[in-house]
Amino acid sequence: MLIGCPREIKPQEFRVGLTPRAAAEAIAHGHAILVESGAGIGSGFTDDDYRAVGAELAETAAEVFARAEMIVKVKEPQAAERKMLREGQVLFTYLHLAPDVAQTRDLLDSGVTAIAYETVTDRDGRLPLLAPMSEVAGKLAPQVGAWTLQKANGGRGVLMGGVPGVGPAKVVVIGGGVVGTQAARVAAGMGADVMVLDKSLPRLRQLDDAFRNEFKTGFASATFTAELVAEADMVIGAVLVPGAAAPKVVTRAMLATMKPGAALVDVAIDQGGCFETSHATTHQDPIYEVDGIMHYCVANMPGAVARTSTLALGNATLPFLLDIADKGWRRACEDDPYLLDGLNVHAGQLTCYPVGLAQGLDVLSPKLALAQ
Ligand SMILES: NC(=O)c1ccc[n+]([C@@H]2O[C@H](COP(=O)([O-])OP(=O)(O)OC[C@H]3O[C@@H](n4cnc5c(N)ncnc54)[C@H](O)[C@@H]3O)[C@@H](O)[C@H]2O)c1
Repeated sequence: MLIGCPREIKPQEFRVGLTPRAAAEAIAHGHAILVESGAGIGSGFTDDDYRAVGAELAETAAEVFARAEMIVKVKEPQAAERKMLREGQVLFTYLHLAPDVAQTRDLLDSGVTAIAYETVTDRDGRLPLLAPMSEVAGKLAPQVGAWTLQKANGGRGVLMGGVPGVGPAKVVVIGGGVVGTQAARVAAGMGADVMVLDKSLPRLRQLDDAFRNEFKTGFASATFTAELVAEADMVIGAVLVPGAAAPKVVTRAMLATMKPGAALVDVAIDQGGCFETSHATTHQDPIYEVDGIMHYCVANMPGAVARTSTLALGNATLPFLLDIADKGWRRACEDDPYLLDGLNVHAGQLTCYPVGLAQGLDVLSPKLALAQ
C-alpha cells in the first residue's frame, strides 16, 4: 500500500502522523511511504531522516493526497485537505466529528473511509489511541502549574517541593484516570504533598494499591473537594465523563475560599472544562486570573512537547496502521472489532452512532459497512 503523510496545517500543530521509525517498519512490511517535505520538522525529524529509511518525499500536500491509498495524520483534516480526499482512500487520524458538522459533511461527500483514533477501543473498553496524549497532558500539568505558581506569573510564589524547613506545595488532583495518575506521580516526584480525588471507589482502590507511598487518595464528595480546594496551592482538573461535557467540580464561589495566587490547571478544558471559571487558552497566552486565582487552560497541551507526543502517538498507532496496510481496512476491521469501533465514515455513510446522535444523522452499522 502507498501510505501518505502530509504536513499538519492546523495552527500551532507541530506533531506529525508518521515518524521515520514507523515509516521504516511499514517499508519493512512491503509498503511504500510518501511524506510531504517538512512534515516532521516540528517534531525534530528532517526530510533526510525519512529519506534514510527509504521514504519518498513529496513537494506538496496535493501530491500526497492524490497518490496515497491511505493518509495518516494527527489532527482532523482541515477544509482545504478535505477537498483532496476521495472515494476508496483510507484516512487514519483524530477526527472528533461529533461537534463538527462541516467536517462530517465534507467527509461524507468525499466518499473516503475514515477511521478515527479517538474511537478505537481495546478489550477493557478504554481508548488506546487517546491514552498517550492523556499521559503527556497529565505529566505536563504539574510542570505548567509550577510555572504558573511563580510570582512573576501571578502565582503564590510557592515552590513545589519546598526546601528543608519549609513545607511543600499542596496539590489536589481531581479525577484519577490516565491524566490524573500521571499528574499526581509527577507532582509527588517534584516533592509536593499530593491528594487525588475520584468518584470511583474501584479506581481509588487501584491507585491506593499502586501509589500509596507517593500520594494520598480521597473520595470526591462536594464538601471534601471544597475543603481541599480551599487549602490547595494547585488544583489539577482531570475528570472525564465519557461522551459528556466535563462536570464543574470547582465553582466560582469556591475561588473566594482559596489562597490568593493559587493555580488552577484545567486539563479537562477540551471537554468544556471542569472549573466554572475556565475558558480555553493557547500556548502563546496560557494563563489568566479570576478573583485572584491563576488559571491555566490550554486545550492542546501535548502540542507543547511535540516530539514526545509524536513518538508516543506513533507507538500507539503503529500496530493499527500496519494492520490496515497489510490486510486492507476491511479485513483489518473484520479481524479486530476494536479497530472497527474506529470506523466513523465509509463511502458516503456515517458509521459511528455517537456522531449520528450528536448531529441527528442516520448511521449505517459498521458491520454492515464491512459487507458493502
Ligand atoms: N488539555 C489537553 O491537552 C488534554 C490532553 C489529553 C486529555 N485531556 C482531557 O483530560 C480529561 C481526563 O482524561 P483521562 O484520559 O484522564 O480520562 P479517564 O477516563 O482516564 O479519567 C477520568 C477520571 O475522572 C473521574 N471522574 C469523573 N467524574 C468525576 C467527578 N465528578 N469527580 C471526580 N472524579 C471524576 C473518573 O472516575 C475517572 O477516573 C479528559 O477531558 C481528556 O479529554 C486534555
